[in-house]
Amino acid sequence: MYKLIIKGGKPLKGTIKAAGSKNSSLPILFSSILADEAITLSNTPQLSDISTTLRLLMSMGADFILESDSSLFVDSSKLNNLVADYDLVKTMRASILVLGPMLTKYGKAKVSLPGGCAIGTRPVNLHLQALEELGAKIEVKNGYIYAQTDGLVGTDIHFDQVTVTATENIIMAATLAKGTTTINNAAQEPEVSDLCHCLNKMGAKISGIGTLIITIEGVKKLHGTDYFVCSDRIESATYLVAAAITGGSITVKNTNPQVMRSVLGKLIEIGADIKTSKNSITLNMNGKRPKAVNIKTSTYPNFPTDMQAQFTALNTIAEGHSTITENIFENRFMHIPELMRMGADLNLEGNTVICKGVKSLTGAHLMATDLRASASLVLAGLAAKGTTTIERVYHLDRGYETIEEKLKLLGADVERVQD
Ligand code: UD1
Repeated sequence: MYKLIIKGGKPLKGTIKAAGSKNSSLPILFSSILADEAITLSNTPQLSDISTTLRLLMSMGADFILESDSSLFVDSSKLNNLVADYDLVKTMRASILVLGPMLTKYGKAKVSLPGGCAIGTRPVNLHLQALEELGAKIEVKNGYIYAQTDGLVGTDIHFDQVTVTATENIIMAATLAKGTTTINNAAQEPEVSDLCHCLNKMGAKISGIGTLIITIEGVKKLHGTDYFVCSDRIESATYLVAAAITGGSITVKNTNPQVMRSVLGKLIEIGADIKTSKNSITLNMNGKRPKAVNIKTSTYPNFPTDMQAQFTALNTIAEGHSTITENIFENRFMHIPELMRMGADLNLEGNTVICKGVKSLTGAHLMATDLRASASLVLAGLAAKGTTTIERVYHLDRGYETIEEKLKLLGADVERVQD
């Protein structure tokens, strides 16, 4: 197993390129099941979640060619095994995204239930309910979802709770359903829109993209396409916080400031100078200590839960008190005890963290627990005095492409070492 060793205290400086979005690439890769031909994706990130998705698709009969570091040719047009096995699904919850495409194209699917994870129970009841409303027969037994249909039929669906992957699953299922499906209270996340744009290029008829009401007119078949995946707003934002927490100044290129307004607003509130162009963001702390900011996570376009842990790390060394309220996942606080071991003054009350900023953190031996919690520990390590060792780096590799290389480019003292 690998670990990261970080010698903290260096302000980050320089320019990096954002990777393509993980949370766009995953549903788009699963959407390849819907097409009667291969698709070619560019700007895909090099992440273990992408390899897991490709392994899952291959286990069902798909083929792929890695055309370059960030370009993939994927042919999932003829699957011969309609089973998503536990061994692969358990490592990545987003595997539930095979269900909608497989069911609508082949009329049946057997998909392992993903189970809980470090950030909460994360049920899939809303995916299943909505598929039933489209006419699927669903049974859950022995840890598997068994779904079948003689053909899905479009209908009006209302999600009681905004859910990103359930919205994506139902959009994909509805593309090949008979008639029109309307999804009310749909997730408006940019990654959902990216999936819709790709599906429309494949011949789907989706409107209302990026709004709370998405309408999908079913078509008989989808064809192959080329698609350029959008940039990863969470990766970009994480590097901006890395610059802010170290009092540095960086530019992130190939990114989209338009979809990061809530996060950029908070960075301005902490005292950062932010300059944006159409596809780049520059942050300069001018060597200042950040000011504490209150955070409440919510659905897009509000502050993303995937940036909560990173802003908690930032608040630990900020001037003043802050509260950080997590409204999306009930248990997304695995980073709190680890940050406290570095000297952070944090108090967890229900779903709110009360943070009193301290002047500095000290390096410690830490355990990564989930993707974004691990990112927050890296940020804390970059700001801390002394050496921080982070175990279980595989959590970071799920969502951050070559993280130590990008941090080194910005002047950080960080090494990946094998146990
Ligand atoms: C996606 C993102 C993840 C992000 C999250 C919230 C991907 C691959 N992952 O996860 O990075 O943190 O959105 O922005 O895109 N819920 C139910 N029943 C369901 C489905 C969801 O109760 O059937 C609940 C969840 O437990 C959670 C809330 O709805 O409390 C929102 O979760 P959801 O948007 O579905 O998260 P994911 O799609 O899993």
